[in-house]
Amino acid sequence: MSIDFKELASEYGTPLYVYDFDYMKEQYRALKSAFEGKKSLVSYAVKANSNLSVIANFAKEGSGADCVSIGEVKRAMLAGVEPYKIIFSGVGKSDDEIKEALELKILMINVESEEELKHVEAVAKELGVEARISIRVNPNVDAKTHPYISTGLHENKFGVEIAMAKRMYIYAKNSENLDPIGIHFHIGSQLTKLEPIAEAANIIADLVLSLKAINVDIKFFDIGGGIGVQYSDEVLIDVKDYAQVIIDAVKGLDVTIACEPGRYLTANAGYLLTKVLYEKKNGSKRFTIVDAAMNDLLRPSLYSAYHKIELVEPKEGEESLTDIVGPICESGDFLAKDVLMPKLDSGDLLVVHSAGAYGFTMASNYNTRGRVCEVAIEDGKSRVIRKRESFEDLVALEKDYL
Ligand code: LLP
Repeated sequence: MSIDFKELASEYGTPLYVYDFDYMKEQYRALKSAFEGKKSLVSYAVKANSNLSVIANFAKEGSGADCVSIGEVKRAMLAGVEPYKIIFSGVGKSDDEIKEALELKILMINVESEEELKHVEAVAKELGVEARISIRVNPNVDAKTHPYISTGLHENKFGVEIAMAKRMYIYAKNSENLDPIGIHFHIGSQLTKLEPIAEAANIIADLVLSLKAINVDIKFFDIGGGIGVQYSDEVLIDVKDYAQVIIDAVKGLDVTIACEPGRYLTANAGYLLTKVLYEKKNGSKRFTIVDAAMNDLLRPSLYSAYHKIELVEPKEGEESLTDIVGPICESGDFLAKDVLMPKLDSGDLLVVHSAGAYGFTMASNYNTRGRVCEVAIEDGKSRVIRKRESFEDLVALEKDYL
């Protein structure tokens, strides 16, 4: 689909996040159909893009939600996700969050430590309920991705070792207030290799078998998220192959395969539209200063992540290398480094690609910059799905204390 970015910029202003809802649906359907013939649950990882309308777009397709705070759980429910399709993950949950999650009757709480298990049990006991849980197992597999988004090694803070997981399952089985229905692993994000996923899935499937032998009956085999997407020239995993390695791993087990994709569903549906303010040179170094900044899209600054940037309307002229930077007072505030561009002028529009995942959700108000407007494109029409924040919004929670 071709998006008229010029029209969108004049209608809604810049910087602007633009999401192609039809593309998101196509991605959802491709993944869901890869598991066809098997019991499966796609629970969208809300952290990737938690705009209510984005979540609702998936909920209408039948998606569940993978959440990492009670705020995300409530967002998912507000957007129409059925509670019995919601998974509450994360390495630390407060007792209040656990209590609310139990009261909301979500599918399961994903537990990541022995202490957390005891907390869930105590809260469930207080409420007089049985908490459905899964345990996140750390299979000690190297996902071969960026160290900040690799999570399946013992050196990472996530999950528990296999021996510990077994002890926790036995404990849970014998508890009146715990119902261990699931097992979970997530070895990392932006995965482009199948082997580590297959290796982890096989390790976890073996564990499910050994749990069966001691009467712990796992019903949900949760493979986490992590499917990589194209930012530049990555060779990607085909979702059919992805599904197949999981299906092979669980052969003979009567489980529902749950998965929690975030980036795969949203990254390449999203664009950050920004306007050139002006250019400058420090010595021979060229900078293009734009109206979007690291507070709008943090990934380049935080992970040196690459996002393709293009001119909305191609321009004539000799190209030279420039850094595309924002107005924030940090040398680390850049959207791209050393990209080839013709001479740019104030008002030229640039579009930053692959910005639909971990873009707006990681945005902040640093430098008292309001978070930008978000717009959805669906069936060829655009609509606002979140208003641009105003100065009044930014000071609303402080000004009464002045
Ligand atoms: N499930 C669990 C337990 C997770 O920790 C994550 C991501 C997902 C699912 C979704 O992963 P995805 O399918 O989106 O790869 N801010 C980083 C990504 C952090 C991912 C954290 N966990 C980035 O911008 O690349």
